[in-house]
Amino acid sequence: MWSQRVLRRVTIITGHERSFWPAIQMLGPSSLDDNSAAANASPNVAAFKGNRSLSGSEKDAQKRLIARDLFKTMATSAVQGGMSKSDQPMFTPALGAHEHTADYDRVIAVMTREQRWRSRMLEVLAPSPNLTIVDLGSGTGSFAILVKDTEPTVRMIAVDPDPAVRAIAEDKAGDRQIEFITAMGNEPIASVLQGTVDAVTCSLVLHQCPMEAKIGILANAYRLLKPGGRLLVSDYGEQRTLLMHLLFKQVREVDGYENTRPNKDGMIPSFMADAGFERVEELKLTQTPTGSISLYSGWKAV
Ligand SMILES: C[S@@+](CC[C@H](N)C(=O)[O-])C[C@H]1O[C@@H](n2cnc3c(N)ncnc32)[C@H](O)[C@@H]1O
Repeated sequence: MWSQRVLRRVTIITGHERSFWPAIQMLGPSSLDDNSAAANASPNVAAFKGNRSLSGSEKDAQKRLIARDLFKTMATSAVQGGMSKSDQPMFTPALGAHEHTADYDRVIAVMTREQRWRSRMLEVLAPSPNLTIVDLGSGTGSFAILVKDTEPTVRMIAVDPDPAVRAIAEDKAGDRQIEFITAMGNEPIASVLQGTVDAVTCSLVLHQCPMEAKIGILANAYRLLKPGGRLLVSDYGEQRTLLMHLLFKQVREVDGYENTRPNKDGMIPSFMADAGFERVEELKLTQTPTGSISLYSGWKAV
C-alpha cells in the first residue's frame, strides 16, 4: 500500500526512516511520552508534545497535522529514492516493510478516517444470522472482527497472504470464532468451496495491487459467491475534486502511478461488471487526508 515502498526506500536507500517513523509512532496514545526523535520529524510533533493542556479535539487536530507532515516526508523520500522492480514483494505487506506491520492499525485510523468508512461498509453489509462472509485481504482483521461482533452467528472467513498480519488479527480476535486463512485473494482458496459464500468484502486492497491481481481478486470473489451473493469493496476510487486529487497524489507517489491509476480513474465498477457482477454501484464516498474512499457494491445474479 501507500506507505510500504516509502518505508523501504527510506530505510534502504535514503536513510530517512528515523526522521519520520517516530511520527507514526506518535499517532498512538501509548507513545506520547517518547518525543525526542519525533520532534525532528514534524514541527507539529514538537507543538503537540510541548502542550499538555490540549483538549481532546485539539489533540485530534494536532495528530492530523502530524500525519500530514509525515506524508509529506514520505512522498519526498519516495521521489528521491526509487526502487527496482526486483525489490517488489509478491504481495504488499499491510504497512510496507514487514517490521512496521505492528503499526498498521494506528496509521490507518488517522490517515483514512477508518471508523467512518468501515462503519459505512458494515452498515451496508448488515450481516444476518448464519451467513458465510469472506474478507479478501483481511489484514489485521479489523473488519472481520466488526462483523463478528455485530452478528456472532456469521461464519467469518478472513483471507490474507501475510502471516504477520494474520498473527495480529488472531491476537485481536481473541476467542471470537473467525477462520483465518493464509492465501492470496486472487487464487482459489482450497478450504472454501466455490458458490458457497453469501458476501465477500475487500477493503484497501485493490488500489495497491497490479492490474492482474485486481482482476484476479474480483474474479475470485465472483466464484466464491452463491447466486444472489454480494461483493462490497471499500477503496480509493475516483477522486472528484482538486483537493482529493492532490491528497491522493501522496498515495500514488508512494504506491505507484500504475497500480493506483485505475482506481483514481473510477475503473473499479467496470472491473466488477467485467467480473460478472450486476447492479454495480458506488454507494458511499468518504473524504480522507489521503484521498476519497468509495464503497462499491455488486451482486452475483440469482
Ligand atoms: C492495506 S491492507 C488492508 C487490510 C484490511 N483489508 C483493512 O481494511 O485494513 C492490504 C492487505 O492486502 C493484503 N494483500 C496484498 N496482496 C493481496 C492479494 N493479492 N490478495 C489478498 N490480499 C492481499 C496484504 O497482505 C494486506 O494485509
